Amino acid sequence: MCGIIGYAGHRPAVPVVMEGLRRLEYRGYDSSGVAWLRQGEMHVVRAVGKLGALEERLARAEGVVTPVCAMGHTRWATHGAPAERNAHPHCSNDRSLSLVHNGIIENYQELKADLAARGHVFHSDTDTEVLVNLIAEHRKTESDLLHAFAAALRQARGAYAVCLMSVDEPGVLYAARMSAPLIFGLGTGEHFVASDIPAFLPYTRQVVFLEDGDMVRVSAKEYSILRLEDMQPAQRGVETIQWDMQAAQKGGYRHFMLKEIFEQPRVVADGLSGRVDAQGGSVLLHELDALPVPRRLHIVACGTSWHSGLWGRHLLEHWARVPVQVEIASEFRYRESLLLDKDDMVLAISQSGETADTLAALRMAREKGATTLGLCNVVGSSIAREAAAVLYTQAGPEISVASTKAMCSQMLMLALMALYWGGRQGVLPAEEVRRNTEILKGIPDVLAGALPAMHARARELSRAYAGARNFFYLGRGHCHPLALEGALKLKELSYIHAEGYAAGEMKHGPIALIDPSFPTFVLALNDALLPKVVSNMVEVQARQGKTLVLAHEGTAVGGDDLWTIPFLPSPLAGFVVLPALQLFSYEMADYLGKDVDQPRNLAKSVTVE
Ligand code: G6P
Repeated sequence: MCGIIGYAGHRPAVPVVMEGLRRLEYRGYDSSGVAWLRQGEMHVVRAVGKLGALEERLARAEGVVTPVCAMGHTRWATHGAPAERNAHPHCSNDRSLSLVHNGIIENYQELKADLAARGHVFHSDTDTEVLVNLIAEHRKTESDLLHAFAAALRQARGAYAVCLMSVDEPGVLYAARMSAPLIFGLGTGEHFVASDIPAFLPYTRQVVFLEDGDMVRVSAKEYSILRLEDMQPAQRGVETIQWDMQAAQKGGYRHFMLKEIFEQPRVVADGLSGRVDAQGGSVLLHELDALPVPRRLHIVACGTSWHSGLWGRHLLEHWARVPVQVEIASEFRYRESLLLDKDDMVLAISQSGETADTLAALRMAREKGATTLGLCNVVGSSIAREAAAVLYTQAGPEISVASTKAMCSQMLMLALMALYWGGRQGVLPAEEVRRNTEILKGIPDVLAGALPAMHARARELSRAYAGARNFFYLGRGHCHPLALEGALKLKELSYIHAEGYAAGEMKHGPIALIDPSFPTFVLALNDALLPKVVSNMVEVQARQGKTLVLAHEGTAVGGDDLWTIPFLPSPLAGFVVLPALQLFSYEMADYLGKDVDQPRNLAKSVTVE
């Protein structure tokens, strides 16, 4: 998830672009760059690291103040490690064109091979460099740049928001979007395109929300919006933005955490992109093709990522028939695991890819000769680099310290791994793979439809339970790890003591704690274990314990407070349970006046033991 901005107007363009990049930095910050034209030449300055590194380079560059048209990019690496050669903008071989891009061009390998055969040379690992050369190739035959741009975009499959500059048209920008955000800003004698409104909010509140398949041609004084499919003008309304800057940086949400919870439909959609074959009968995880299906899998992780691993075990054992051990990394690294041998695989799950204990566990596994695999969100992180293979979750930067959308993206990848290995080993029929990939594909719509009502219910229930100082979270089977995660979220954010428990274990001790002031959050989904969970809930009620029950719509389960959510078959129902738990903790913490995005004593990435 990168940030792009383009400017054409009467002000010095590079400083305007740099200021915009600062406001887009939440989208990614492993490298950045700007491009501008001066005396008929394309100038590009790029740097690895945060924006400060680019600022230092620009301070030494010449002619930065005069141009009135420029564009910039802040990167969150997807294709290619964070390195200067992979930073945007990328230029065509003849340096007549320069492009910034947010998104993924899925067929870039194919396009690259074709362009290479025509003599194009590539200096980066990116799909973006392929696209800019493709535009240059079409420019040789098309009547003008607009048509060449359109011809190239029609060949590209995947997601993009792009901005293009040409040495032949100083003061003009071209931009387009497909499944990636791009907003057009209209000032007085100046125009903007950007991934998000905050990038240009100091200059204008007049915006056009471009739609998929829209292209724009922009100069300081003029603009036109066309449809990619037929090059006909598109009628788009201009809207006035009312937000203040602080709110805008959080995309209109009160906190990053809430924004990230609401991003989960997109996280699932992005995670599925390119991962299922056209018929839905097989899952594509090319990163795993060269590795053997593990004889035994050891998952190592910390915190929320550990809960993802526990959840994933249910799917991996059930669908892929792979025996799975799930270990807390800080324990695993110091234990002499007699089960671990060189025919096993160790999967390190880590949002940051930098958690010290998980990294150490991975290194230990490598020393013992096991095959290592990373499941990470941050591209180019230590775990991603050191593992023999890596799968990226592509959830985009997670800013709130408490992890939300990262867990959703990890669950998705674990589900895909289970389907992939199940299919590859022939233990899961293609029909079953197809049935489950169809359910997965439906999740973004189910979630997007359900989240507003879930949020409202979470608010009501948090008020009703705000007096509690202790909480149990109970679940069975695939809901047990979710119960652990619900309890962790409540602890982290609201500082209320909470324990997640396997519902069937309550009677072996913890039930002694139950009294009218000690409520229990019960995960009672409509699946084979429901009667057992209901029995455990009744045992709590018999001790005067209050119960808050999360259940599927239309299922009568009892309990003191019922919270119903849309039905999805288990175990994939977890994709709806997870945001309910997150929203309850979020609302509780906010109501109690806690610092939601930066809870006390916690850190986003724990690089010490
Ligand atoms: C910290 C964070 C948690 C996270 C854990 C593991 O404790 O506060 O939210 O789950 O680290 O982080 P990782 O980056 O390895 O997933």
